Amino acid sequence: PALAALLRDMPKAELHVHIEGTLEPELIFALAERNQVDLPYADVASLREAYAFSDLQSFLDIYYAGASVLLHEQDFYDMARAYLARAVSDHVLHAEIFFDPQTHTARGVPMASVINGLYRACRDAERDWGISCTLILCFLRHLSEDDAFRTLAQAMPLRDRFIGIGLDSSELGHPPEKFARVFAHCRELGLHLVAHAGEEGPAAYVWSALDTLQVERIDHGVQAHQDEALMQRLARERIALTVCPLSNQKLQVFPDLALHNLPQMLDAGVAVTVNSDDPAYFGGYINENFEQLFAATGMGPRQAYQLARNSLEAGFVGEARKKAWV
Ligand code: HPA
Ligand code: ZN
Repeated sequence: PALAALLRDMPKAELHVHIEGTLEPELIFALAERNQVDLPYADVASLREAYAFSDLQSFLDIYYAGASVLLHEQDFYDMARAYLARAVSDHVLHAEIFFDPQTHTARGVPMASVINGLYRACRDAERDWGISCTLILCFLRHLSEDDAFRTLAQAMPLRDRFIGIGLDSSELGHPPEKFARVFAHCRELGLHLVAHAGEEGPAAYVWSALDTLQVERIDHGVQAHQDEALMQRLARERIALTVCPLSNQKLQVFPDLALHNLPQMLDAGVAVTVNSDDPAYFGGYINENFEQLFAATGMGPRQAYQLARNSLEAGFVGEARKKAWV
């Protein structure tokens, strides 16, 4: 009980959450009705029943279908507002939120509706609850690099409303180097850079995210454990990995949480963090990820403290604010 209270109450940062992955079935149905979008599910219960995933792709198919109810700026606001309220109650001091604009612009939703809705929710949450919150625009890696360039151009009028660029969606067959030119361009624009790598894909994708894309953090990165030289580099350079235990379990990366490699990576000196990824789909927000991971692996207060500290140190925030946190 003392450990559970520590995990719940300790201040933490969330650095890997897809805002479209926080869309709860109840809100999906409410927005479907508000926007008169037809869903291929009769009700909340039958939608939830479809949440049985065998791998990343089987999840992504349902995740993109759920996002189809998002049409207007207010929809994006409502989704982010609900997530941020939840983050505050989980003692998240700072959240860096991923969003997937191509999922929406491909359906005719204006880029400004997406970004302005999310941005307004962030500013209101800072005002109402004191949480710090920033946005990271993700390119979908199953689409082309040209599509990513067009997406970036659409977002440039709102450049001051996001702090970085990420890379997500289907990993296998879409290595980081596919996006070398657009990431180089984003780097010149002064954007922070991250990429999903080593979730289902090999350690080689983590190397190329670091060397070709020059990312500052790796999202997931759990397959790095296969490569001793890579592990040593991650530890030496203090490159943070944003690990998502319940996601890894639900997508069968580690079907049993007791076999998750986060404790070993932490022991090896890698700056791992605990995050929720797509909490509406994977069965829990950040505190649930901490609680289930600790219950399964037997980690204790020392690791809890280190993980919280890692998360606060790995955020893209000024050194002064970081000092106030850690
Ligand atoms: N991996 C890749 N793409 C994603 C994920 C993920 O875990 N969640 C949402 N988009
Ligand atoms: Zn993710």
